[in-house]
Amino acid sequence: MSLPTNQIILAPLQGYTDAVFRDVYFRHFTGVDQAMAPFISTLSQKKINLSTLKDVIPENNVNCPNLIPQILGNIAEDFISLANQLIELGYYTINLNMGCPHSKVAKKKRGSGMLPYPEMVDQLLDNVLKGLSCKISIKIRLGRYNKDEIFELLPIFEKYPLEEIILHPRTGVQMYEGEADIDSFIKVADNTSHRLVYNGDITSVRVFNNIVKQLEKVRRYGQPSHSYTPINRFMIGRGILSNPFLPSQIQAKVGQSSEDMRNIGNLKSSKSQSELLERIKLFHDELFDTYSRKFYGPLHVTGRMKGFWTYIGDSFKDYRKEIKKILKSNNREHYKAVAESFFAKLPLFKPTD
Ligand SMILES: Cc1cc2nc3c(=O)[nH]c(=O)nc-3n(C[C@H](O)[C@H](O)[C@H](O)COP(=O)(O)O)c2cc1C
Repeated sequence: MSLPTNQIILAPLQGYTDAVFRDVYFRHFTGVDQAMAPFISTLSQKKINLSTLKDVIPENNVNCPNLIPQILGNIAEDFISLANQLIELGYYTINLNMGCPHSKVAKKKRGSGMLPYPEMVDQLLDNVLKGLSCKISIKIRLGRYNKDEIFELLPIFEKYPLEEIILHPRTGVQMYEGEADIDSFIKVADNTSHRLVYNGDITSVRVFNNIVKQLEKVRRYGQPSHSYTPINRFMIGRGILSNPFLPSQIQAKVGQSSEDMRNIGNLKSSKSQSELLERIKLFHDELFDTYSRKFYGPLHVTGRMKGFWTYIGDSFKDYRKEIKKILKSNNREHYKAVAESFFAKLPLFKPTD
């Protein structure tokens, strides 16, 4: 029996995984099969201008595998109008954001703010699917206020030919607190015929394997247990930003030989460490150069680069002081100097394991 192939999707992280990040990331690292772009908000009755769409314009995404654009909105005609612009750009699957936890968004009944309103969701999907030629997938949480809200929505989802449902098993009000609720994920999987994608807190190969093991309990809705299909699509966000090698580590684990895996085989050996650091530095430098070329203001560039350190900084556990210095820099030259001196110290890269 051949091992199931797990597919990894780069999660959308607004302010982090933009087109520049994706382009440079995919030039340096392997293991990811697909990426989702951070949300674009609908605008009432207006054609979205090209600068808002630049993140998903195909020429800005040549290295990015199978990009899925995402829309945040709750009014069918605005959604359809934006989706049609995306279809014109060549996209044939579009994701609807039903998970954004931020209260500013949620109080307008957008993102996770839609979850307590099944009738509204039903109307939206009905109108959107009637009005569009592309496929629609959904990215969702368990609920806005409690983790049972999704069970009111699942019968509605059954009525529509969704491409897939990506579930982050937390509530909206939880934001990122507490643990991702795998038992609730399994309960949802048992109650939907749609393809389900797991998303949440995959930070290492060990955690990934543990989640895969727990998901073996899933028996798919409407199918006899002997024909169940395992969950084999996983979306990862912060784990990839903290450890950009994570997807190739996971993929190597299921039997694909990969050059990355040789390099990261033994994180503690000094040869592996220097190779890892060299590759992270190349990635960092190219990211900095590309942002410097594309962004005008120095604060924009340092702002984006500080985003880079927000997560990967956690993998340089013994260098908090140095990273603080990088995060304090307020112009490009100063930033460059402190980042250079950080790498010159040959810091140990120790991602979560
Ligand atoms: C800073 C930040 C920005 C995010 N932006 C988006 C977004 O634009 N669209 C979306 O669907 N989810 C967004 N998310 C949620 C992530 O896609 C993902 O669901 C969440 O981080 C859980 O996955 P992880 O534990 O692998 O990071 C964002 C999360 C963070 C932390």
